[in-house]
Amino acid sequence: MRYSARKSVMAVALMATAGMAQAADVEVLHWWTSGGEAAALNVLKDDLAGQGIGWNDMPVAGGGGESAMTVLRARVTAGDAPTAVQMLGFDILDWAAEGALANLDAVAAEEGWDAVVPAALQAFAKYDGHWISAPVNVHSTNWVWANKAVLDDLGIAQPQGWDEFVAAMQAVKDSGKTALAHGGQAWQDATMFDGVVLSVGGVDFYRKAFIDLDPEALGSEQMVEAFNRMETLRSFVDDNFSGRDWNLASAMVINGEAAFQIMGDWAKGEFLNAGKTPGEDFLCFRVPGSAGAVSFNSDQFAMFAVSSADAQAAQGEMARSIMSPAFQSAFNVVKGSVPARTDVPNDAFDACGKQGMADLAAASDSGTLVGSMAHGHANPAAIKNAIYDVVTAHFNGEYDAATAAEELVTAVELAQ
Ligand code: BGC
Repeated sequence: MRYSARKSVMAVALMATAGMAQAADVEVLHWWTSGGEAAALNVLKDDLAGQGIGWNDMPVAGGGGESAMTVLRARVTAGDAPTAVQMLGFDILDWAAEGALANLDAVAAEEGWDAVVPAALQAFAKYDGHWISAPVNVHSTNWVWANKAVLDDLGIAQPQGWDEFVAAMQAVKDSGKTALAHGGQAWQDATMFDGVVLSVGGVDFYRKAFIDLDPEALGSEQMVEAFNRMETLRSFVDDNFSGRDWNLASAMVINGEAAFQIMGDWAKGEFLNAGKTPGEDFLCFRVPGSAGAVSFNSDQFAMFAVSSADAQAAQGEMARSIMSPAFQSAFNVVKGSVPARTDVPNDAFDACGKQGMADLAAASDSGTLVGSMAHGHANPAAIKNAIYDVVTAHFNGEYDAATAAEELVTAVELAQ
């Protein structure tokens, strides 16, 4: 493992310094399959095509990347790892621990990544002091997306706290429209739970529960309250929510069938792809009660250790492209996320993007930036999945709120 990692550092360094541009195609495994995601992916494909790097597409649908990670495991087990893989948080570290990833130190040193990538991202992009992935963006999960015309027609102002949010949803429901567009899939339930837990207890409670996995916090009255709030949200979704894809829920808000969606800022990519403008057609705001906190997840591209020098060259060039400031701006403007480097100007970003960048910087400075539980930045997959199971079973009525909090304590304990 060590040997192949070292071999690939040397090869990437060689290509980088000698400028040997015999780059092969990259085969990229990812889960960017919605309209907005595909538009962002095209920015990346075009950028690489401009450098003579071909794209071999390996899409696996499913937000949060669970299905993509299952396919990846099968590919690696069969001895056929893709060259580059979209990955989140602890999954990156797990693959690095298995010795499967290429070492990107040479390109990172040439491009000065250490100085511009925030520490919160480096925690997942480096393993054992070595760069093992290239962060392409920073998303965050505690956002609400709202149809402005629907709210205006009903005289509803942007809700300022949880109670106002509930009152706003009630007014929408009373009008006959769907208040909350949601897709009943475990990762989407968990995405809402990120914001709800923050809204109940702020970052201190979030940290104790999801990062420290403190059984007292997991089973606390505050956690029962978080589950109560999930029940409130459940009462505002339509009858057909079960199994719906997240981008179809976004479409319900885009076309005015529903007022709100609680979803990470990849949802903005759907609004933009539909030609909508923030402030005019739609609103973006933090889950009421969670302002100031940011639950983040960063999509990164990890490169699997390969032996062909051409493939290594392509990996190095892909990593270099992803991290260029111009690409980080162009890509994230379309994707809905914000740059993974701190030195990218916000000029090209719309109002929601500018807010996302400002929120991220402020949260990072004030210690209110936390890794998203739902998107693999709080815990390794086994614990994340244990939390998913409880959250989703409760959302579907299997447990009441008090039982769900008890189940959470047990599930997390068993998964460790
Ligand atoms: C990823 C986003 C993606 C979303 C929905 C998240 O886990 O970080 O890039 O758009 O899933 O597919």
